[in-house]
Amino acid sequence: MRKKITVVGSGNVGATTAHWIAAKELADVVLVDIIEGRPQGNGLDLLQAMPIEKRDSYVLGSNDYAATANSDIVIITAGVPRKPGMSRDDLLNINYKIMSEVVGKVVQYSPKSFLIIVSNPLDVMAQTAYKLSGFPRERVVGMAGILDSARFRAFIADELKVSVENVTAFVLGGHGDTMVPLPRYSTVAGIPITELMDAATIDRLVKRTRDGGAEIVKLLKTGSAYYAPAAAATEMAEAILKDKKKILPCAAYLDGEYGIKGLFVGVPVKLGAKGIEQIVQIKLTADEQTQLNKSAAAVKELVDIIGVGATPVLASAS
Ligand code: APR
Repeated sequence: MRKKITVVGSGNVGATTAHWIAAKELADVVLVDIIEGRPQGNGLDLLQAMPIEKRDSYVLGSNDYAATANSDIVIITAGVPRKPGMSRDDLLNINYKIMSEVVGKVVQYSPKSFLIIVSNPLDVMAQTAYKLSGFPRERVVGMAGILDSARFRAFIADELKVSVENVTAFVLGGHGDTMVPLPRYSTVAGIPITELMDAATIDRLVKRTRDGGAEIVKLLKTGSAYYAPAAAATEMAEAILKDKKKILPCAAYLDGEYGIKGLFVGVPVKLGAKGIEQIVQIKLTADEQTQLNKSAAAVKELVDIIGVGATPVLASAS
């Protein structure tokens, strides 16, 4: 039996995710959207690319969740972008409503699936999906850290003129202004970048990573990034389907790890056939932990607005 991945939201990120999945022949893909014709059109277009790419992934688009039944993985990219005049809270409430609708359908049709959340604000949407689905935390994971780390890796490789294959990097924390890039744990062929670049250069790359999404929004003017976000979500799906047991920075529901309880925050996790198989706890300096706490507090602030937190608290503060 072939594996089945549903991608909810057939916009830029969703359609591109379907593209990466089919191009890698990871699974059959069902694209779902509320816009009549959009997922059907994208699905058919991708299906017609398969003979050229010599891939046997079947791609189908639908407005009806019945087509998604028994998916192994559901990647959720549905949402609306922030429009002029819309406050952050307005956006939060709209996307919360969308996520609630989507998760309800997904649970009904694919009760055993793994959820990979991509919609923003990422950590809060992951928390919403986790709380509303009732799935165990191993099966709900948010995509952010891989994207933020990939941006950092691309900038490091470009700066040092080395292969991207040689560069690993870790960015933890929430997906947003408070993300925590960790230069000490970022390496080129195993050599920490702190040995290869001066502090000012690292600071410049860290800042560009932090502003990575905004830089692209500014250039595109009418949308946000989608190639790299889609590639990151696909890497997570691949790690689960192939039981790769890959250590990747992802948003996970913390239950005391890193001193944080009851909240989705970006941390290194091991992704395999059971989903989040382990939350990897690395030693942080006092300054890094302070930054991570600040990032968690920013996530908590949004979680509290829509009330999906039970009683999330920083364990250290309780
Ligand atoms: N059910 C299914 N699809 C929906 C729903 C819903 N209730 N509401 C909106 N959508 C669809 C829209 O119709 C649209 O096709 O979600 C899609 C979003 O696509 P885009 O507007 O192109 O946005 P995109 O760039 O793909 O980003 C999607 O991912 O990275 C994040 O910040 C980004 O939250 C955003 C999400």
